[in-house]
Amino acid sequence: MADADEYGTVQKLLHWLIALLVVAQVVVGVWIGTLDPHDQAQAALATILYQAHDGTGASILVLVLLRLLVRLTVGVPALPRGTPRWADSLAHLNHRLLYLVLIVQPVLGYLTNGANGYPWSIYGLYNIPAIIAKNAVWADWLGQAHQVGAAVLISLVALHLLGAFYHGVIRRDGVVSRIV
Ligand code: HEM
Ligand code: HEM
Repeated sequence: MADADEYGTVQKLLHWLIALLVVAQVVVGVWIGTLDPHDQAQAALATILYQAHDGTGASILVLVLLRLLVRLTVGVPALPRGTPRWADSLAHLNHRLLYLVLIVQPVLGYLTNGANGYPWSIYGLYNIPAIIAKNAVWADWLGQAHQVGAAVLISLVALHLLGAFYHGVIRRDGVVSRIV
């Protein structure tokens, strides 16, 4: 743990950039699911959205790994004295699980793509080849695991927002202002 009582500029920038990308990623993921693959115009839109979704997933993975690296080297501020132990433990568990899901979710997406017979497209500019063979059963399972991952992520973000509300509105202890 660092002694500083607020996050550094790089940590703040990474926090908000990742938050923005995660929201866009969920919106685009759900949007893709509403498109009819048998309709030519919607299938063409799905191809573009998949490239954006694949590429943004890669960006999130790289930024989260970078963020973990910064966290391991400069540390993070401890919660203010007086924060109840349960709130401190819940916040740490929430952060750890957020990091975990933000790493597992792009990997699951990559494997889903592979099982569907597609590479990992980095915004349509570069393709990372699949590491698993095309397999309809695996594609179904992995697609479902990716959906569960998204639901877990949304739940963790909801808990995170409740935490921000608790610190910002109920306790007014300055925790929210140190990340903005
Ligand atoms: C943090 C990163 C990611 C998040 C938050 C995310 C989120 C989502 C969401 C919310 C959906 C819609 C699920 C539904 O139908 O309800 C989805 C679908 C999908 N995503 Fe991702 N995704 C991420 C990364 C990736 C990556 C990197 C890839 C591919 C390389 C990918 C491939 C897919 C595929 C193929 C689907 C359709 C799955 C199916 O229903 O069969 N995702 N994603
Ligand atoms: C998709 C959206 C978001 C994600 C994935 C996310 C993720 C994270 C993670 C992983 C941390 C832990 C940082 C660390 O200690 O290494 C964190 C910290 C924090 N986040 Fe978010 N965040 C999101 C949105 C928000 C929003 C909208 C707020 C609203 C104010 C917020 C407020 C905070 C605060 C106050 C902290 C610092 C907590 C502390 O000092 O212990 N976050 N966020």
